[in-house]
Amino acid sequence: MTRQILVTAALPYANGPLHIGHLLEHIQTDIWVRYQRLAGNECTWVWADDAHGTPIMLKAQAEGTTPEALISQVKQSHEADIEDFLLSPNVFHTTHSAENKELAEMIYNRLNEAGHIVKRTIKQLFDEQENMFLPDRYVKGECPNCGTADQYGDNCEVCSATYDATELKNPISQVSGQPPVLKDSEQYFFALSKFTDMLKAWTTSGALQPEVANKLKEWLDTGLQDWDISRNAPYFGFEIPNAPGKYFYVWLDAPIGYIAAHKYLGDQNGFDFMETWKADSDHEVYHFIGKDIANFHCLFWPAMLENAGLRKPTGVFCHGFLTVDGAKMSKSRGTSITARTWLDHMSPEYLRYYFAAKLSSAVTDLNLNLDDFVTRVNADLVGKVVNIASRCAGFITKKFDGQLSETYPASERDHYDQMVSAQKVILDYYEQREFGKAMREIMLLAEQANTYINDAEPWVKIKNPELQTEVQEICTVGLNYFRVIMTFLSPVLPELAKKTEAFLNTELTLASLQQPLVSHGINKYKPMMMRVEDKQVQAVLEATKASSSDSGNAADGSGAKPTAIDLGLDPLMDTIQIDDFAKLDFRIAEIVDAQPVEGADKLLQLTLDIGFEQRNVFAGIKSAYSPADLVGRKTIMVANLAPRKMRFGLSEGMVMAAGPGGSDLYLLSPDDGAKPGMRVK
Ligand code: 2FM
Ligand code: ZN
Repeated sequence: MTRQILVTAALPYANGPLHIGHLLEHIQTDIWVRYQRLAGNECTWVWADDAHGTPIMLKAQAEGTTPEALISQVKQSHEADIEDFLLSPNVFHTTHSAENKELAEMIYNRLNEAGHIVKRTIKQLFDEQENMFLPDRYVKGECPNCGTADQYGDNCEVCSATYDATELKNPISQVSGQPPVLKDSEQYFFALSKFTDMLKAWTTSGALQPEVANKLKEWLDTGLQDWDISRNAPYFGFEIPNAPGKYFYVWLDAPIGYIAAHKYLGDQNGFDFMETWKADSDHEVYHFIGKDIANFHCLFWPAMLENAGLRKPTGVFCHGFLTVDGAKMSKSRGTSITARTWLDHMSPEYLRYYFAAKLSSAVTDLNLNLDDFVTRVNADLVGKVVNIASRCAGFITKKFDGQLSETYPASERDHYDQMVSAQKVILDYYEQREFGKAMREIMLLAEQANTYINDAEPWVKIKNPELQTEVQEICTVGLNYFRVIMTFLSPVLPELAKKTEAFLNTELTLASLQQPLVSHGINKYKPMMMRVEDKQVQAVLEATKASSSDSGNAADGSGAKPTAIDLGLDPLMDTIQIDDFAKLDFRIAEIVDAQPVEGADKLLQLTLDIGFEQRNVFAGIKSAYSPADLVGRKTIMVANLAPRKMRFGLSEGMVMAAGPGGSDLYLLSPDDGAKPGMRVK
C-alpha cells in the first residue's frame, strides 16, 4: 500500500531572512521528502511562516510599518529562498491566515469545553512607558541565583539557573530601558499537568529519538507545569474567543499552522485535510525540528492534539545546531550567512550535498568546516560523480552520433544489477535519515564506476578501428552507472538530476533502473557542475561581514534592535574612582584542573593556583573552551571577590574573559613569565 506521509519543517519566524542554520533543517526535510516521493510514497510537505508574537510586533514598530506589511514582505523573501535552494514544499502558507484562526479557535474551544483551560491571576512585569506586559526575553536584570548582571528573564547564561522574569533583581525593560513594575494579570492556562501519564507513554512509544525521550523524561519526572497560552494586548496574533484583550501566545497557534497550511492546500486541491488529522487516521505525520523546540512539539503539541480529538504525530525528528568552522555562527567572522548571500556566490547544491554528507539521525550538532566543504564537494561531486559523465559523453556524441550501444555487454550486466540493488541499503539509509551513510554508499558506487572506466581505457581503444563497438559499449556502461548514481542522488541534488535527465534523455526513476539504457539517443553533454573555489567561500564571508555592519538585523531573525551588544561590543560602564579600582585584587592564576559541571551547560569548574593557595571557581566559559585545553594555562582572576554559593558548590573568585559570550569568548592571559599569585596592578 502506498504510504500517505505528511511532513513539516519548523515554521520560520516572519521577521528576518533565512540563514544557513535554518537551511540545515530545510535541506534535511527536503531530502527526506524527495526520497519518499522517489520511493513511490505519497509525501506532502506543508509549511508556512510563523507570523505572530512580540518580536514581530516590535520589529514592525521599529521599522515604522505594520506587522501585516512586515510579514508579507518577509514571506516573499522566504519564498524566493525556498525556491532557489530547491526546497519542495507543496505549500508555503502563513500562520496569520483565516485557516489558522479558524483552527486555533476550534482547538482552543475544544480544550476549553473539555475543562482543560484554567484562568489564573498572576503577577507580571509591566512596562509603564510602553504600556505593555513584558515577555521574558524583553527583560534583563541580575540573576536571582548567582547575581550576574544583564541576564534575560528566563535563564542565566552564567549559572544556567532557570527562573521567572519576576525573580530578576533590578530588572530593566529592553523595550523602553526603564525599570518595569509588577502588575496583576489574568492569564489562560492549558492544564498540561493533567496529561503527564499520556505524555510519558507517548514520548516512550518510539515516536522520538531516544536522546530526546530521555531529556523529556527529566521534565516529566519533575512534573509538568500548566502552560500559559495567553498574552495581553498589545500583541500581534489572534484574540482568544470571549476574552477581549487576550491573545493566543504565538506558540499555541504556530504548530496549528501546520494543519492550517494543510487545510489551505486541501481547499485548493479538493482533498480533505482531516483525513490526515482525525484521531484514527492511518496517514503518517512527521515534524522536523531543532532540538531547542522539542518541548513544544513533544509535550505541548501532542497534549493539545489529543485533547482536541485529533491525531498525534507519528514521529518528531530533532536535529542539532549548525556550527561553522567549529563555532557558533558569528556576524563578525562572517559566518552568519543568509540564504541569499550564499546564493549570490554559490550553488545551493554544494550546501545540500555537504549537509547530506554529514547528516545522521542523531541530535548532535553539525559543523560546516569551510575547508572540508570545498574539498568534499570537489572530490565527490565533481571528481567522482560528474566525472563519469564527462569521461564517457564525448565519445558517444562525437563518434556514435549520440547513440548508446544496441545491447548491454553481457560481462558487465551482473555488475549493473549489483549497483541497482545497492538501492536497498541506500533507500533504507534515507528512510532512517542516515544521509551521511547513504552518501558514502553512493560514493562507493561512483568509485567503482570510475575504476571501471580507468581500467577499460576507452581513450586508448578509440584509436583502434577494430575496437569502436567496444568503446561504444564501455561508454554505455559508464553512462548507465551515472544514471543509477544520479537517481540515488536525486533527493539531494534535484538540479543536477534535472540536467542528467535532459542529457540522458530519460526520466530518473527507480523502476526504470531495472533495465539499463541501450539503443537510446542521448543529448550533447554540457558541463554540469563547476568546481567550488575558495574564493567563492571567501566572497560569502566577506559579503556577510559587510552586510552585518550596515544592518542591525540579527541574522537569527530575532528581530532585536541593534545594540552594541549585538556587535560584540559592550557599552562603556559608568566612571569609577581610582579608590574603587584599588579595591580589586587581580591575580595571575594557573589553571591546574578544569572539569565540566554536571547539570550546567555553560559552566566549567576550574581549580586555580594563585601561588599561596588554590581556588575553586565556576566559570561560564564552556561553550568557548574544552577543559583539556585549559589545564596548564595562566589567566587572570579576581581573587578578593566574596565567595558565592552556587547550585554546584562554592565559587571562590572569578576568571576574566572578554567577548559577548558563547563561543565568542576570550580568556585573558598574561605574557610568559608571569607567576601564579602575582598581583595585577
Ligand atoms: O523556533 C522557531 O523558529 C519557531 N518559529 C518554530 C515554530 S514551529 C511550529 F510550531 F510552528
Ligand atoms: Zn546566574
